[in-house]
Amino acid sequence: MARRQKRFEVLEQRPIHKDGFIKEWVEVGLVAMDSPNDPAAGIKIQGGKVVELDGKRREDFDMIDYWIADHYIDTAVAEEAMGLDSLKFARMLVDIDVPRCEIIRLSVGMTPAKILEVLKKLNVVELMMAMQKLRPRRTPSNQAHVTNLKDTPALLAADAAEAAYRGFSEVETTVGVVRYAPMNALSITLGSQVGRPGVIAQCAVEEALELAMGMRGLTHYAETVSVYGTEQVFIDGDDTPWSKAFLASAYASRGLKMRYTSGTGSEVQMGYAEGKSMLYLEIRCVMVTKAAGVQGLQNGSISCIGVPGAVPAGIRAVLAENVATVLTDLEVASGNDQTFTHSSIRNTARMLMQFLPGTDLIFSGYSSVPNYDNMFAGSTHDCDDYDDYLVLQRDLQIDGGLRPVTEEKVIEVRNRAARALQAVFEELSLPPVTDEEVEAATYAHGSKDMPDRNVPEDLRAIDEMMKRGTTALDIVRALAKHGFRQEAETMLNMLKQKISGDYLHTSAIFDENMHVISAVNDANDYQGPGTGYRLEGARWDILKDIPMAIDPEDI
Ligand code: 5AD
Ligand code: CA
Repeated sequence: MARRQKRFEVLEQRPIHKDGFIKEWVEVGLVAMDSPNDPAAGIKIQGGKVVELDGKRREDFDMIDYWIADHYIDTAVAEEAMGLDSLKFARMLVDIDVPRCEIIRLSVGMTPAKILEVLKKLNVVELMMAMQKLRPRRTPSNQAHVTNLKDTPALLAADAAEAAYRGFSEVETTVGVVRYAPMNALSITLGSQVGRPGVIAQCAVEEALELAMGMRGLTHYAETVSVYGTEQVFIDGDDTPWSKAFLASAYASRGLKMRYTSGTGSEVQMGYAEGKSMLYLEIRCVMVTKAAGVQGLQNGSISCIGVPGAVPAGIRAVLAENVATVLTDLEVASGNDQTFTHSSIRNTARMLMQFLPGTDLIFSGYSSVPNYDNMFAGSTHDCDDYDDYLVLQRDLQIDGGLRPVTEEKVIEVRNRAARALQAVFEELSLPPVTDEEVEAATYAHGSKDMPDRNVPEDLRAIDEMMKRGTTALDIVRALAKHGFRQEAETMLNMLKQKISGDYLHTSAIFDENMHVISAVNDANDYQGPGTGYRLEGARWDILKDIPMAIDPEDI
């Protein structure tokens, strides 16, 4: 071995060297946004029908092409939109004098290859400018993961309460043991209402169970309905755009907010990328979503982030796919969820792409629990990063959705959530949440600090609860009976919201006063300095007031 240069030896020890990188490999689709196999943009319309899409004739369409041609493309504007020079449209995306509505009007007349052509013209700063203008909701927000290794309910409730109190507007859980799902859903749904009324909850599991829980009021939204950019990958999942649209309608018809999930890299990972670029395939997913009438999309590679993360310009493509989503007037829950790097420098750099411009939900989600408890395979940021995150918001005067808190108040909401859950378990004849568990959950860092539960007994009781037909109304009754009057009212209000349906509008969340804010009543009106969302006034006073800062009055 040749003599080593000592600096290289040190560099090789750095965490970035544990990350996986690969050179572009077009045949398998390991290329971010520019494959020679990506089609040229084009459209032909005859008698109001798309007969050719990006150079492919209708008789050669796969099912995704059909779905986009017949349900995405607005043939009334297609000729005008496709006739626009791509560079001109790219400039319109960053031009503060072109309002969002004009962009949205035209984007639904464009084909996947056209949008690809446009996005390729933007560098990351321009993509961030586009995101700042184009996200549907003016006010940015954030989503949290609330899970733990033991599926232990008091901790789920306490963690959901803290997450809600810190400012997340959506919380989602999933399971270690599948049969725990209804108990996990119940725990975070109740816990989050204790932390802050109006936070909406999700439990990501197999579809039939997820839908059943939603219909019983145990959850408020669903986002893990996956869509893909090639026909073969769809078929391998025993699905079609039609079956996904049917499922989406089932959720929405019962008052559940609905968004799909997709993201660059999934087709590569499943071995059928057709040699196309990841961004081209992802733009097809965005269009499949829009065409289904679904209000939003969780994308930004999500669980496949290692794939775009390994190739040149992959993280730029991830931002571009988020922009593709808002460009077609969909809510975006913009990733930053699954861990993809060992380097904290790289981790933060990737996150800034969505944090700086603000998106509907910057993380989808942020781990509100320690990484060892994150059952979504980890997250880029977790509860141990809260103070770093608060400082980034303060340094840059950016609203990333979280506010400073005091230890005292967090202890209080965690404890109240665990006690409320204890009362509900008693009324629903679930195996008790003990005082010891309430105490442990209040002060815990994670599930290592929790006593074990009798798992077989829990699972039996959960099955019985589902057989009995328990719904969120039973939770309301239990809370009222045990003196948790405010929580009972909040839980009931959330059920009423499912009937009024206002939070099914694009980008809808609830504010602190339990009012819906969405693209309808909080439309993004960014048009340059002095417009759009500004972190100022009372909200800035709250966000800048971190307990770590020295107060001159104390000196
Ligand atoms: N494409 C499609 N679905 C995805 N999911 C995660 N990443 C992707 C992606 N890139 C889905 C998973 C799971 C949930 C977390 O989201 O299949 O259901
Ligand atoms: Ca999510």
